[in-house]
Amino acid sequence: MENERETLNIVAVGHVDHGKSTVIGRLLYDTHSIPEGAIDRVKRISKEKGKPFEYAYLLDAFEEEQKQGITIDTTEIQFRTPKRDYVIIDAPGHKEFLKNMISGAAHAEAALLIIDANEGIQEQSKRHGYILSLLGIKKVYVLVNKMDLVGYSEKKFLEIEYEMNRFLNNLNVYPLKYIPISAFYGDNMIEKSENMPWYDGKPILEAIDDFEKGKGLENKALRFPIQDVYKFDARRIIAGRIESGQLKVGDQILISPSNHVTQVKSIEAWVEKDRVDIVKAGMSVGITVEDEFFNKRGEFISHVENAPLVSNFFEANLFWMGKQSLVENKKYKLKLATQEVECEIFAINKVIDATTLATNDEAVVVKTNDVAEVIIKTKESIAFDEFKNNQHTGRFVLVDGYDVCGGGIVSGLVKAIATVNKFVKENLEVNVQCFDEYYMLLPGQDIQKFTRHPRVYTIGEPLPVAGDTYSYPTSFNLIDLENQHVVKVRNSKFENLLSLEDYSYEPVVHLNTLGLTIKLQSADDYQRFINEYKGLSNPKRKDEFFAKQWLNFSKYRSIGFKQASKLNAEYEI
Ligand code: GTP
Ligand code: MG
Repeated sequence: MENERETLNIVAVGHVDHGKSTVIGRLLYDTHSIPEGAIDRVKRISKEKGKPFEYAYLLDAFEEEQKQGITIDTTEIQFRTPKRDYVIIDAPGHKEFLKNMISGAAHAEAALLIIDANEGIQEQSKRHGYILSLLGIKKVYVLVNKMDLVGYSEKKFLEIEYEMNRFLNNLNVYPLKYIPISAFYGDNMIEKSENMPWYDGKPILEAIDDFEKGKGLENKALRFPIQDVYKFDARRIIAGRIESGQLKVGDQILISPSNHVTQVKSIEAWVEKDRVDIVKAGMSVGITVEDEFFNKRGEFISHVENAPLVSNFFEANLFWMGKQSLVENKKYKLKLATQEVECEIFAINKVIDATTLATNDEAVVVKTNDVAEVIIKTKESIAFDEFKNNQHTGRFVLVDGYDVCGGGIVSGLVKAIATVNKFVKENLEVNVQCFDEYYMLLPGQDIQKFTRHPRVYTIGEPLPVAGDTYSYPTSFNLIDLENQHVVKVRNSKFENLLSLEDYSYEPVVHLNTLGLTIKLQSADDYQRFINEYKGLSNPKRKDEFFAKQWLNFSKYRSIGFKQASKLNAEYEI
């Protein structure tokens, strides 16, 4: 439709009490977007509380209306300018803001980051700036509010602009405008303020019309996550919401991760007159397909030539809000679009303090309010996109019990895993490949070894003694013949690392650095083994006879199967 009006969603963020709700209330008030009754009520309540008129209370009127049946904890307010319609999202607190922004419950394309001129930049001003950068929201105005409290000082305004830019530019966020305002007194809200003649920009109401709206979702690749499959007379109707792209009858489609290809037979409608041949992003639809595979909730429908990624490993930027710290190897539930799957944090690569941007590469836990770069491993392969390519299918939340305890965005597939796993103690070091996996790649049927995400293990750390294609006893000694070291593992933990010279035989399982079993039953065996190794003409050649006599691949190891195309996604081969 030609005269369909454009809508832009804007989120208001900032530290507690810096004036988010007042900015929005004032915009509503000044654009006469508020029913008279609500204004009278706010006047009354403000008076009762002995305060001047509180614009922030105007939002309560909206909030109450929204309370019924709504699942998100933000208030969405609508108003319009001659140019377009706006939805402004106000989150009552930090936690709600995080949850809604990261989960995508609140979709925003642009942001107003509000800073109290008097209090200056605070912790949450920075955290919120960080989240905007993570979510790729580049359309940002910084509103320096409560200018009345600093005598409308240009100097103060410029100081905040300078300091905030220093922080945000580091995150690749370059605010498009800084606007000095007093939301309470209406300075630079809908009209230019006479109190700040030094400011030569636009007031907020005009400035927001300058935000450019991004390309429509319907022009992106098709993503249609299946919500449910209904049996309806003889038909199976696949239902869900089209998150992006378009779909029409006759299209060849791919269903991921099950990897089936079929064609769209029909797009269903309740009544015949509503029947259409093409559906687009934002619509909830039901379709039937030519080949009735067993499709299930969670799978993605896409076009064949523009498929989502499929893997059970991916890299993510994660925000942690759980009361308990996030730890590696604990099971969480991951929800991404309509998929729900058990997952664990395979590796914590880096923890970032969102206020100082200090990073810690050694961290083993992620504490409440921390941000981290992690590798997530899901129990089964799932379909997803990189967040930068698709915001709807590239974000996820983690659930611990019933609580959303974290959320994040997919930054990519796991990159080439080049380095090896290591045990270190003081200046001793043992490189091992015992935690690598062996797969026969289908359909080519070559066997290849894949290195688990490299870790440096220090004394006392728990070890992945069981993987996909290996399962060692919980206690063993690992001998590095080449470099003459022994690693002792007890109760699945790294207990000690010593030089082979200082080692005397112990009656436990012995493995080599590849994770092959060394056939040792006694101290005598051990002595013979060491002597024979020393007698090898070129130990580095790993003599075949020696290997046959002493090594066993299959005692604790096996070879798995993998679709070559999928491995490509997990590891760069
Ligand atoms: P939370 O939702 O609690 O995070 O706060 P908020 O950011 O929504 O702040 P809110 O709009 O509720 O404003 C906090 C207080 O600051 C209120 O008492 C406002 O009246 C006051 N305030 C807001 N803007 C201005 C301003 O421009 N000047 C002055 N002097 N006070 C202001
Ligand atoms: Mg508020």
